[in-house]
Amino acid sequence: MLLTIDDVLSPDELVMARRWLDEAVWSGGQMTAGAQAAQVKNNLQLAEGVPGLTELRQLVVQALSRSALFFTATLPLKIAPPGFNRYDGASNAYGEHADSAMRLDSGQPGTYLRSDISATLFLTEPQDYDGGVLTIHDTFGQHGIKRKAGSLVVYPSSSLHSVSPVTRGSRTSCFMFIQSMVRDAGQRRILYDMDMALLSLRSEYGETPPVVALTSTYQNLLRCWAEN
Ligand code: NI
Repeated sequence: MLLTIDDVLSPDELVMARRWLDEAVWSGGQMTAGAQAAQVKNNLQLAEGVPGLTELRQLVVQALSRSALFFTATLPLKIAPPGFNRYDGASNAYGEHADSAMRLDSGQPGTYLRSDISATLFLTEPQDYDGGVLTIHDTFGQHGIKRKAGSLVVYPSSSLHSVSPVTRGSRTSCFMFIQSMVRDAGQRRILYDMDMALLSLRSEYGETPPVVALTSTYQNLLRCWAEN
């Protein structure tokens, strides 16, 4: 499922993140790419150990934890430490690639998480750069995505995707890999659709007995499918 969520970062958080990122020292982006992706990856990235990176990661993870929509769409079990990348100048594109299935988990050397869902948090306003479109391939074709700063897009890690060359300005974003409690994308979609429908029913009719019964069914489906 491909879903965009606006205003994940507050305006204050966005200002704080951008101010810090504008002063950060960027490195070549090959460091976290698998063998296939490394051949087409041409961007900049923040290296591990850069001062302030831990705090910026916390800011992003805290913002995600406020979003009920992010939770119901991804049902996150683990989130790999968010990374930050920049596209500009000669380092301005990321060709079509597949994200690695397994990623290093946070803070525990040698432990991994399975990347079910990839996410991009846009940190630059779209009018401040040309190009830089995130294109995602799914069974219904290609989707070009360019959102306002502070917005998030989540999509299956299994889908091929690319970022087109930035031809003016600079595009900064945060990228994340998420292991879901529900591994199967089809099952996650059913749960998401059901939760959204329940939200509408609840706001329209209140906690009526059928709404309560369906909520129980949702939880029972999650109980069947969730793993930890
Ligand atoms: Ni990718």
